[in-house]
Amino acid sequence: MNHYVHQNKVANHADCFKHALLFEVLSHLHATIGISHYIESHSGAGLYSLQSISAKDKSPEWKNGIKKIMAVPGVQNISFFAYATAYFRQNLNYPGSPLLATQLLHDASFIFYENDEYVAQLLDGNLQFMNPEKYDVRICDSWQSDTFGVQPCMKQPVLFIDPPYKREDFKRFKECIEKSFNQNNKLIIVIWHPVFSKANQKEISDFLEAILDTNMPKLKYQCLVENESDVTKNTMLGSGFVILNYSDSELNGQLQAISETISNVLR
Ligand SMILES: C[S@@+](CC[C@H](N)C(=O)[O-])C[C@H]1O[C@@H](n2cnc3c(N)ncnc32)[C@H](O)[C@@H]1O
Repeated sequence: MNHYVHQNKVANHADCFKHALLFEVLSHLHATIGISHYIESHSGAGLYSLQSISAKDKSPEWKNGIKKIMAVPGVQNISFFAYATAYFRQNLNYPGSPLLATQLLHDASFIFYENDEYVAQLLDGNLQFMNPEKYDVRICDSWQSDTFGVQPCMKQPVLFIDPPYKREDFKRFKECIEKSFNQNNKLIIVIWHPVFSKANQKEISDFLEAILDTNMPKLKYQCLVENESDVTKNTMLGSGFVILNYSDSELNGQLQAISETISNVLR
């Protein structure tokens, strides 16, 4: 029941940070170099009803995430929150990354990997506004795809990797990234990752060091919402966001400012 596990976390601090940065990155790339293909390795359902999540869960995480953010004056200056307002205020809904990407990048083609058949059907239903020839929902384990469907002929592909970071997710991460870059050296990869307290961060830090140990341009951000109070506890302190094979000083300034604002509001 993967869909339920993610659902109580929908629109929490990590989602707000991830989607605010992703929205900004995609808008920037769309307006500058253009995006021909957008690929997601771990897509989810695309649109979530916060009301139904609250009906199933007594303390859903969106109350400490999007709810707090939407109450802050001026937050509409961050484009993702301006975009998400219509969903939030009208029906208490929250748009996930496949929805924001398809609505932003109207002239791109899309590949969405989702290994839970039920969630994949929800996603397909939430993309009904699109021309079916422009998107492909692939119901399978995206690590098994080797290259996430990246092809040499793609003019400017962008790949977003947003896994649950279970033990099995670490096994093929680096190899799949390398194989994808080997397919197409223009590929830009965007990665979200959790940040845990020191005791539990080692696996993620080692993994990040390994994938970031390349000469290619990169941008990195963190948004911490908890203090490291008890280092023996497995507390999620916040999350991180990495862009591989692209760098731009103006975008960097915008992403840094957004990360700080979200951290200040939710800390
Ligand atoms: C955190 S949710 C994705 C959220 C989405 N990226 C967003 O930001 O709106 C992760 C999704 O990945 C799916 N998933 C987990 N492991 C997978 C795998 N190996 N291949 C494809 N999908 C996977 C889960 O079923 C879940 O729906």
